[in-house]
Amino acid sequence: MGLGYIGLPTAIIAAKHGVQIIGVDINPKVVEMTNQGHLHIIEPGIEEMLKEVVANGMLKASTTPEESDAYFMVVPTPFKGNHEPDVSYVEAATRAVIPFLKKGDLYVIESTSPVGTTEMMTKIIFSERPELEGQIYIAYCPERILPGNVIYELVHNDRVIGGTNPESSDKAIEFYSQFVTGTLHKTNCRTAEMCKLTENSSRDVQIAFANELSLICDKAGINVWELINLANKHPRVNILQPGCGVGGHCIAVDPYFITAEFPAESKIIANAREINNYKAFWCAEKVKNAMLEFELKNHRKPIVAMMGLAFKPDIDDLRESPAKYISTKVMQSCNNADILVVEPNIKEHNVFKLTDYLEAYDKADIVVFLTAHTPFKSLEWSDDKVILDFCGIFKR
Ligand SMILES: NC(=O)c1ccc[n+]([C@@H]2O[C@H](COP(=O)([O-])OP(=O)(O)OC[C@H]3O[C@@H](n4cnc5c(N)ncnc54)[C@H](O)[C@@H]3O)[C@@H](O)[C@H]2O)c1
Repeated sequence: MGLGYIGLPTAIIAAKHGVQIIGVDINPKVVEMTNQGHLHIIEPGIEEMLKEVVANGMLKASTTPEESDAYFMVVPTPFKGNHEPDVSYVEAATRAVIPFLKKGDLYVIESTSPVGTTEMMTKIIFSERPELEGQIYIAYCPERILPGNVIYELVHNDRVIGGTNPESSDKAIEFYSQFVTGTLHKTNCRTAEMCKLTENSSRDVQIAFANELSLICDKAGINVWELINLANKHPRVNILQPGCGVGGHCIAVDPYFITAEFPAESKIIANAREINNYKAFWCAEKVKNAMLEFELKNHRKPIVAMMGLAFKPDIDDLRESPAKYISTKVMQSCNNADILVVEPNIKEHNVFKLTDYLEAYDKADIVVFLTAHTPFKSLEWSDDKVILDFCGIFKR
């Protein structure tokens, strides 16, 4: 259930390993493209495999579920306006498969979910189908793949599998061992849910530490890149690199699934979210100040290049991107004038008019590095420009 960035590659790899798959998605375009053997997501190396499993009948996409032996919920779990997790997609997908469940079936949630979701869905299933209580296997198995590297990671990464009882964990492990060679770690569903949230919160907290250092260093007149490099020479210190905030639909979202439920206990996690959000706001203010200073000094408005929109290097994903937020804030503050927006991984965008990175760097008076895309690293530092390097292109 769900043929997105996670569901579709999982379906393809499982089909490739001999599992007969019905891939269900409520988006008819996704279903149509999949059945034609066309990938609707960007993921290197997997389209050939899709064509093969569609052609040999191992994978078929549909807008509605059919009777199967195992059901996997791989639908979005965003948050609502107040950072409360929204499990309505998981519930809708679950309700869609309930009529097809039969004795001995396996039901698994893969979507990143707040603690207690698997138990909540279990209640819904048994309230609709009380005769199935004790007759089916229910488990939670989070995904931890890195988009762009899924062919390798889907197979080789270790997985955490938490059943609602040990028999369910075993049944899910039996399924995943058909195509996962990484170790399958057995636990209960609440621990497995919390494990996924913990992994992403851990990244968020560690990045927040680096971002906090960057704010302190800016005030103290210290080069944060040099500082972190030197501190990391300590054998037991490993500080991450600062950036212009934290983005993406995982690290910038999942910690809220903990803070919403355990607000009194999750102080560091909540603070990290605030620091990482604040870093993006701070960067936007820095750019606006640099523009004002330039105008006062040169009696004309500057040309500003905003380098990068994606939330991390060398991808085209703008979800929750701090770079996109900063560019928007800067454009709003100056009526869109003289701002050149650069994103080398996207050809066209419906909001931002994009400029080639070489042309933008050449023309701009103020250059703001927001995402450390590889092509930017070939640019040479220029003393004639004001350079705001928030992501360590030059580490100066
Ligand atoms: N993308 C990642 O890197 C990543 C990594 C780990 C975990 N996750 C988690 O995996 C889950 C899925 O993420 P994704 O990136 O694949 O999302 P996505 O938005 O790329 O895909 C989700 C798909 O589900 C479909 N869908 C929505 N409701 C449905 C329903 N009721 N029935 C059938 N299909 C439905 C949507 O049309 C969409 O195609 C999320 O919980 C996410 O947090 C994602």
